[in-house]
Amino acid sequence: MGKTVGFVPTMGALHEGHAALVRAARARSGFVVVSIFVNPTQFGPKEDFAKYPRMLESDRKLCGDAGADLIFAPSAEEMYPTGSVTFVDVAKLGDHLCGATRPGHFRGVCTVVLKLFNIVQPNLAHFGAKDYQQARLISQMVRDLNVPLEVCVEPTVREPDGLALSSRNRYLSDEDRAVAPCIQQALQAVRTRAIAGEVDVARLESALIAELSAISGARVDYARIVDAETLQPFARLDRLAVVAVAVFLGTTRLIDNVTIPS
Ligand code: PAF
Repeated sequence: MGKTVGFVPTMGALHEGHAALVRAARARSGFVVVSIFVNPTQFGPKEDFAKYPRMLESDRKLCGDAGADLIFAPSAEEMYPTGSVTFVDVAKLGDHLCGATRPGHFRGVCTVVLKLFNIVQPNLAHFGAKDYQQARLISQMVRDLNVPLEVCVEPTVREPDGLALSSRNRYLSDEDRAVAPCIQQALQAVRTRAIAGEVDVARLESALIAELSAISGARVDYARIVDAETLQPFARLDRLAVVAVAVFLGTTRLIDNVTIPS
């Protein structure tokens, strides 16, 4: 009998959050594959595809140290040969949050992830909870299309001051880096209010937007409280919810989230 294959899809510029995904894969599988591919179809025309950091040598070292057995780093031509016209669209789950402000993003993500699944043929695939909506869409796609693997969502890895690890953190100026942990603090403040008994979603969202807008140099892309399963908005906190935000600090767009128990 062959080994269980664990898979960690990435776009490279790897950090400790990715290392944690590789270690999680290592713990459950006999053979661990990491893909490194900056996927052009998930970037909008005005986004940072061209300047997205590419650092294969240090990525290779991190993967080896964390326990990966194989790195798959295809070219754009290999992944999208001339004439490719098929895309995967997961309806509804992509309507809000990042899907609303990054049209076409999740179509690109789901398409490349399904292609990678078909190439690597893993038993388990590991994704980070920081990209809550991405993990939710991929889980739905796997269920809807009968993809024969288990999606494992791993906890967000944070700096000691609370900032969620991201390949984009390296773009932050010193001033922006200093205030970046305020994003997680604002999320925790909303969670605390909700747990203390506030059930009006509009009021909670207003408080969250006010808190995020008060961060020096911040521009709120979105700050929403949605149903954790359907990712649709709702009025009263009577179910498991996710509070998800995207905030620009300078030109760097950071995302983070917390869940609120029902
Ligand atoms: O989360 C990412 O790094 C990317 O969206 C993914 C899943 C590797 C697809 O390109």
